[in-house]
Amino acid sequence: MERIFIGAAWPYANGPLHLGTLAGCLLPADIFGRYHRMKGNSVLMVSGSDEHGTPITLTAEKEKVEPKEIVERYHRQHKKNIEELGIVFENFTRTSKPSHKKVVHDFFLKLYEKGYIYRKKMLAAYCKHCSRFLPDRYIEGICPYCGGKARGDQCDVCGKTLDVLELKEPRCKICGNEPVTKETEHFFFKLSAFEDELLKWLEDKKFWRDNVINFTINWIKGGLKDRAITRDIEWGIPVPVEGFEKKRIYVWFEAVIGYLSASKEWAESVGKAEKWKEWWMEEAKHYYFLAKDNIPFHTIIWPSMLMGYGGLNLPYDVPANEYLTLSGEQFSKSRGIGIWIPDILSKFDADAIRYYLSVNMPEKHDTDWTWEDFVAKNNNELLGIYGNFIHRVLTFAAKNFGEIPEGESDEEIVKEIKKMVNEVGNAIQACHFKEGIKRIIKLAQRGNQYFNEKAPWDLIKESKEKCASVLHTCLRMVKALAICSTPYMPHSAQKIWNMLGYEGSIAEQRWEEALEDVEKNSLAKPTPLFKKLELKDIVQEEVQKA
Ligand code: MF3
Ligand code: ZN
Repeated sequence: MERIFIGAAWPYANGPLHLGTLAGCLLPADIFGRYHRMKGNSVLMVSGSDEHGTPITLTAEKEKVEPKEIVERYHRQHKKNIEELGIVFENFTRTSKPSHKKVVHDFFLKLYEKGYIYRKKMLAAYCKHCSRFLPDRYIEGICPYCGGKARGDQCDVCGKTLDVLELKEPRCKICGNEPVTKETEHFFFKLSAFEDELLKWLEDKKFWRDNVINFTINWIKGGLKDRAITRDIEWGIPVPVEGFEKKRIYVWFEAVIGYLSASKEWAESVGKAEKWKEWWMEEAKHYYFLAKDNIPFHTIIWPSMLMGYGGLNLPYDVPANEYLTLSGEQFSKSRGIGIWIPDILSKFDADAIRYYLSVNMPEKHDTDWTWEDFVAKNNNELLGIYGNFIHRVLTFAAKNFGEIPEGESDEEIVKEIKKMVNEVGNAIQACHFKEGIKRIIKLAQRGNQYFNEKAPWDLIKESKEKCASVLHTCLRMVKALAICSTPYMPHSAQKIWNMLGYEGSIAEQRWEEALEDVEKNSLAKPTPLFKKLELKDIVQEEVQKA
């Protein structure tokens, strides 16, 4: 038994979740978590709504409401959508919890005591017109590294984290004027102290995805700068030091601590307050799922914070994803480009969405969501190959036998099942999610071929016994397919499980159960698993919306 800690990047509670977050972060984390639970490993999967910082206050200002109203609205919505999508967390919480604040303060003060946090006067961008400092997203300009369009704390294009004053051609996001500089005092995190330790820690991370390890090493080698971790704003976690009442902790600095505070909160909730220590202080593998713009926070800043704090587990793997684009364009909340989860959930089944994002996951490079491809993959693969095989086998067996017929399993097929189960398991374990789902479809395809070859509709006239063996073999494939696709498509897997005459939750089956024979359950007439989609219906709606 292994302990698997899974952290999924915390979505900002400043708008609906979009497909990019699902594809790059929530879905891979969920596939991974579900698989490991079925393998009998202990899983602690946490995340929550990221409720502080300028993403929230900017949205609130735009809507002319209090930030509190924004985060309440979207946290509630996030939670609901996550449930509808079938994403299972041990704890999906929020950074506005008092328990989070407590852990953040402890973390901050310990680093302060150890000298990894220090105070320093600095110049910051200030807008005279708006009479306010312009932290992070309140300022926009040109990235000094790549020339791309950047916000105050990070470049959207190259992913570098930035200091506001580094920006070229800075502009106040509110009024568009050029800011001036003004002195202010802030706390700094001594990131520069961790260069060597980070490089040493990364030495045995050869198994990381190329883009993640290369990005991380290049950046460290380019030199790490200490970073301001407090801000002149009113919304956020207060600074636990006298004289800083008007300032708040930088959202990124406290949000990553959420992984720890959510673990502590979870331990409390299961009535074993000390249990978080098993995950953070004993042997456990820590995986973090996120999209590429979040890489430096999880491979450099958070690990440095953990090193500074001492005694806590560092990330084991950070299988960050590239971006999902929409018909070639990058998703963007601010530009209104994207597909929003509440919207798409109102039109399509969660598993249809999960399937398409799984086969089209942006693991190694950006992938594109197009409606044509969504419809094609749904109709041709999910419904046409996978659903079709399962449906015809169950229909034929129910009609002609009324139960799972006893018979001899075809050894060739049993071998193929075994191979599939192993390969899918290995793929998921290695975070190659796309490969895993493709392997599943391949077995369903083999199933269709087998069914056609054996032609049970003719065979049954010839020999009921031989036909029973063919069906028995096919039903074993159906069972294996259901179990192995549970991490990807939990809702339909559950339906198949019940249609096979099993009770209880398929998610609670052991992964190895996929290799076991099927029992002599009785079978009812199956219902279709998936819906055929028509591109013209979707396109029409999208056009109407525009
Ligand atoms: N809210 C951030 C984003 O959407 C991610 C925060 S991840 C955390 O980009 F770990 F810091 F919480
Ligand atoms: Zn301004």
